[in-house]
Amino acid sequence: MLGGERIEGSIRVDAAKNAVLPILAAAILPEGDVIIRDCPDIRDVHAMAEILGKLGCETIWQNGEMLIRNGRLHQWEMPDELSKQIRSSIFLLGPILGKLRRATVTYPGGCEIGIRPIDLHLKGLRALGVRIVDAGGVLYCDGRDMHAGDVYFDYPSVGATENVMMAAVLLPGITTIHNAAKEPEIEDLQRFINRMGGKIRGAGTQIIEIEGVEKLHGISYAPIPDRIVAGTLLCAGAMNGGKMELSNVHPWDLVPVIDKLQEMGCRIRESGNRLTLEAPERLHAISQLQTQPHPGFPTDMQAQMLAACCVARGTSVIIENVFENRLSHVADLCRMGANIRVNGRMAVVQGVDAMHGMRVMARDLRGGAALVLAGLCAQGETIVENIALIDRGYAHLEDTLSALGAKIDRIDV
Ligand code: UD1
Repeated sequence: MLGGERIEGSIRVDAAKNAVLPILAAAILPEGDVIIRDCPDIRDVHAMAEILGKLGCETIWQNGEMLIRNGRLHQWEMPDELSKQIRSSIFLLGPILGKLRRATVTYPGGCEIGIRPIDLHLKGLRALGVRIVDAGGVLYCDGRDMHAGDVYFDYPSVGATENVMMAAVLLPGITTIHNAAKEPEIEDLQRFINRMGGKIRGAGTQIIEIEGVEKLHGISYAPIPDRIVAGTLLCAGAMNGGKMELSNVHPWDLVPVIDKLQEMGCRIRESGNRLTLEAPERLHAISQLQTQPHPGFPTDMQAQMLAACCVARGTSVIIENVFENRLSHVADLCRMGANIRVNGRMAVVQGVDAMHGMRVMARDLRGGAALVLAGLCAQGETIVENIALIDRGYAHLEDTLSALGAKIDRIDV
């Protein structure tokens, strides 16, 4: 990409990766087909569809809609290689157990942004009567004695909350999750399951109640828009002096991001499902940004915001509280001329007048997006390697940014 072009124009945001993935997992629960409308063309969704195929479901993707035929679901063993590729395959543990009462899965292990244990997922499932044996990293889960129950999470994990919701929906009685995660994607999963005939209350608060039902029916469903893709594009506009309009966004879900962009000097207006951003001549630093579980500032927007701070006037302090290894984009940003000092989970960013383009490498999904944002405002040419990681969560990011005026191409190396 060649930096320095103004990023402006209008764009529609796709459905959220983090809503679609658990919804695809929950699509094995009903008796009847499910259609996911507006399904984003991203690598994690392709991988999830492949895993569903191995479990016996048929998935057909046409004109942005995915049809899931779950009538032949029979396999409770999750395919090893594919599950390692996509961490969110762990979401399938709950629904497979709920539906087939047994499951085998390889321990997913760590990933680029941290160790990412699954102890809370397992704690939640054990509270519902699942017996779990770990034999050399393979988890054998026996759900024959599953029952509704009380689950307390020591930390409001998004994935563990979703897993327990899906495991409990077909169990007689009331399951209560205490200290549940409150992310908008959890509310969306509740909405999806309830439209299929489920009875879940409380998503979006820290207590979720799941009243078991005998069965669910198939539906057609459009998941919520991607607040992280929206936030990433807003950062691109903010860093490149643009005026941008995003449609298909839920501004309410973007409040922490909007707040920080306003602090940086952007003018942001909301109108229904639209947001417009007008960037200042030069961004101002932010006094402090700390990632937190929702409704705090989302960890998935930390890297992109840090990239914006690199070219802001003044000193910004960014603290990553959610994942222990999520500042790996800093080294490449510094090579591009940014002035950042890291101390543990804290990054102190002293804004510079300009960064310069060079060859850098994506090390995780959002960190990779941050390098693209930096490249768009750097002087000269930037090449980001390892973009398969970016493709996990952004559908053809280069096309989206080109449509907004960026000089960016995908090259085969
Ligand atoms: C989800 C999102 C991810 C986002 C994250 C936090 C999806 C597909 N992914 O990931 O994009 O960055 O929420 O908003 O929705 N933890 C444990 N034990 C567990 C589970 C989690 O210690 O059993 C820890 C994690 O290591 C991490 C923290 O809890 O430090 C948050 O993780 P969690 O909320 O579970 O994130 P994910 O569901 O993996």
